Amino acid sequence: MNVTVIINQKQIVADVDENMLLVDFIREVAGLKATNIGCDTSTCGACTVLLNGQSVKSCTILAVQVDKKDIVTLEGVSESEGLIHPVVKAFSQCHGLQCGFCTSGMVMAAISLLSSTPNGKILSEEEIRQGLEGNLCRCTGYNNIVNAISVAQTMLSLEL
Ligand code: FES
Ligand code: FES
Repeated sequence: MNVTVIINQKQIVADVDENMLLVDFIREVAGLKATNIGCDTSTCGACTVLLNGQSVKSCTILAVQVDKKDIVTLEGVSESEGLIHPVVKAFSQCHGLQCGFCTSGMVMAAISLLSSTPNGKILSEEEIRQGLEGNLCRCTGYNNIVNAISVAQTMLSLEL
C-alpha cells in the first residue's frame, strides 16, 4: 500500500506491506535509528514517538494507520541546534541516561507528558513517575530521568 507519512516535518512516501509496523517504517524506510525496539510485547516504551503530538508506542501501530499523519522522533527534537527541545537539554544536563537504549522513548514520552500538562502546573516527582509508567529503563536510571524532567518543566515554565 502507498502511504505518505510526515516525519519530523519531512514528507515520506513509500509503498509498504499492510502489516509493516510504524517502528519498522521509521527505522527502515525513513532511516531514523534513534527509535529503538526493546521488546515484542509492547511493554518497554523504547519505540515511543509522537503521533499528532501524543506519545504512542510505534510497535503497536501499523504504518498504514498513520497515512497523512505527523510523526516526531527524537531526531526531530534534537538534531538541529535551533530545535533542541528543553527535555533533551535537561536529559543531557542531568545525566538522564546510562546505556541510552531507553532514552529516545523516555524523551518522547516526557515531551508528551509535559505538553499535556496545563500551563502553570508543576508535576510532582510522583506524577512524573506515573506519567512514565509505560517506559522502562533496564539500567534503572529513573532518579536522574525524573530529575531531568523536573528541570525541563522549569525551563519550559520560564519560556512562557
Ligand atoms: S518495542 Fe515498543 S513497547 Fe517495546
Ligand atoms: S539508560 Fe539504559 S535502559 Fe535506560
